[in-house]
Amino acid sequence: MTAVQDYREYLKEILIPEEKLQQRIAELGAEISRDYQGKDLLLVCILRGGVMFLTDLVRYLTIPHEMDFMAVESYGKGGREHGELRLTMDLHTGIAGRDVLLVEDIIDSGHTVHQVLELLEMRKPRSLRVCTLLDKRERREVEVPIHYRGFEIPNLFVFGYGLDMDGYWRNLPFIAVPDLDRYQPPATPA
Ligand code: IMP
Ligand code: MG
Repeated sequence: MTAVQDYREYLKEILIPEEKLQQRIAELGAEISRDYQGKDLLLVCILRGGVMFLTDLVRYLTIPHEMDFMAVESYGKGGREHGELRLTMDLHTGIAGRDVLLVEDIIDSGHTVHQVLELLEMRKPRSLRVCTLLDKRERREVEVPIHYRGFEIPNLFVFGYGLDMDGYWRNLPFIAVPDLDRYQPPATPA
């Protein structure tokens, strides 16, 4: 017996279907493979939202590379957008002198990526770029440089393909829009 509502009960629309996602990710993979030819590429994924994108993206890379993971959390009573960033899991590898590509699921206000870039910059990578699957540009509060962008999307809450509804449905192979009037959050959020 599960308390988690089936997403089909509140699915409003599929914003980006699987084929379109995969096609674009293949293009990004080809572009990154060209740009990082002969470089020391280290992909850095921010957990947990970016993990689906990362694992698909690397399957389209044709050059040697490594991957590493970090987890961050925003806290502070001003809400997510104005929270200070806390590193809850650091990278295992040093990034000094390496060509680092930060892989994110979505850039919204920009605060998360802005602060992660500041943190990584202090460790003196040789280069540091950002690859995001989704860009909610209208919502930007802090400018962040985006070198590789999957899709620009309107100001809508989305889920699926790494992005969650209170912890669930990250596994969906598409990006979806929920009808929040029909959504019942789980009793104990993940
Ligand atoms: P930012 O710091 O405002 O750019 O927030 C980025 C983070 O907010 C992302 O890494 C996501 O975890 C989360 N986020 C922003 N928009 C959405 C959304 O539409 N669905 C799910 N998570 C989102
Ligand atoms: Mg995230």
